[in-house]
Amino acid sequence: MRKKVTVVGAGNVGATAAMRVAEKGLADVILVDVLEGVPAGKALDIAEAAPIEKHDCRIVGCTNEYLQAKDSDIVIITAGIPRKPGMSRDDLLSTNMGIMKTVVKEVASVAPQSILIIVSNPLDAMCHVAYDASGFPKERVIGMAGVLDSARFRAFIAMELNVSVENIHAFVLGGHGDTMVPISRYSTVAGIPITELIPADRLAAMEKRTREGGAEIVGLLKTGSAYYAPASGAVEMAEAILKDKKKILPCAAYLQGEYGIKDLFVGVPVKLGERGIEEIIEIRLNEDEQKALHHSAESVHKLVEDMKRLAK
Ligand code: NAI
Ligand code: 2OP
Repeated sequence: MRKKVTVVGAGNVGATAAMRVAEKGLADVILVDVLEGVPAGKALDIAEAAPIEKHDCRIVGCTNEYLQAKDSDIVIITAGIPRKPGMSRDDLLSTNMGIMKTVVKEVASVAPQSILIIVSNPLDAMCHVAYDASGFPKERVIGMAGVLDSARFRAFIAMELNVSVENIHAFVLGGHGDTMVPISRYSTVAGIPITELIPADRLAAMEKRTREGGAEIVGLLKTGSAYYAPASGAVEMAEAILKDKKKILPCAAYLQGEYGIKDLFVGVPVKLGERGIEEIIEIRLNEDEQKALHHSAESVHKLVEDMKRLAK
C-alpha cells in the first residue's frame, strides 16, 4: 500500500517539505493550507516537475479540507504565522496555539494513527499543544528542531575543517531557541571528537553561530525565515519513520524523567522507526552540559506556563 504524508501549511517550509517527500519517492503527499488556490497551485507545480524528477508520487493541494488526509502515515505541521511588526510574543504564541489546536484536531479526526512531526514555532510549545489536542501517545508527537540545529552545526564544522559534511556527526540538544545546547564532546569528524580538532575559542564561536542560526538567515532574507534546511530536517525524520530505519536523531520528545526532566518536550537523541519515537537515548552528560540542558528545559517550561496563562 502506498504511504501518505500530509503537510499542513503550504508556505515556504511546507511546500519545500512536500516537494522533498515527493522527489525522494517517499510517499503520496497532501498539502493543506487556509489560503485559497495556493496549496492546489503548489501541488500542481510539484506534480508537473515529476516527469523530470522521475518519481510517481501523487500530490494534491487542499484548502481547509482534511478529507484527503485520511489515514495519513505522517503529518508534518508547518502552519502558523510569523511575528509581525507591533505584535508581542504573547500575541504570536496565542495565535499559533489556536492554529495548532485547530489543525491537530482536524488531523486527529481523519488520521488517528498518524505520527505528527511538528515544525511550527515556538517549536517546543507547539509540541505541547499538538500533544494535548491530539490525545496521541507521546511516541507519535515529535518536534523538528534538533535535526536542523545539528545540521547547521555540522555545516559549520565542515566549513571550518574543509571536510565532507558526510564525515560529520553532531548533536544539538535542548529547546529550539537561544538556550539550545550544542554538545561538542559528542560531535565527531570521521569518529574523531571535534574538541581534538578545533581550538576552544573557534568551537565556542561555532556553537554561538549555531544558537543564532535561525536569526542569521532571517537577517539575510529579511522577509522570512529559513526553509530549505528546516524542510530537509522534517523530511529526514519522515523518511526514518516511513522506512523504519531506527535512526538516531535529535528531536523534541515528551520527557518523563529522562535527563531528570519531566512532562516537557525537549530536544534529545531519539530512535525513530515505524512507531515514531521508539527509544529515548540517554547519553551521559557532564555537569556543565546537564546544567545547560536543564536551563534550556526551564525556558520551555516558561513557555508552557505562558500558554496556560493565555488559555485562561
Ligand atoms: P510561511 O508563512 O511561509 O507558511 C506558513 C503557512 O501556514 C502559510 O501558508 C499560512 O497560510 C499557513 N497557515 C496559517 N494558518 C493555517 C491553518 N489554520 N491551517 C493551515 N495552514 C495555515 O512560514 P514558513 O517559513 O513555512 O514557516 C512555517 C512555520 O515553521 C513557522 O512557524 C516558522 O517559525 C516555523 N519554523 C520552524 C523551524 C524549526 O526548526 N522548528 C524552522 C523553520 C521554520
Ligand atoms: C529557524 O531556526 C525560524 O526556527 C526557525 O530557522
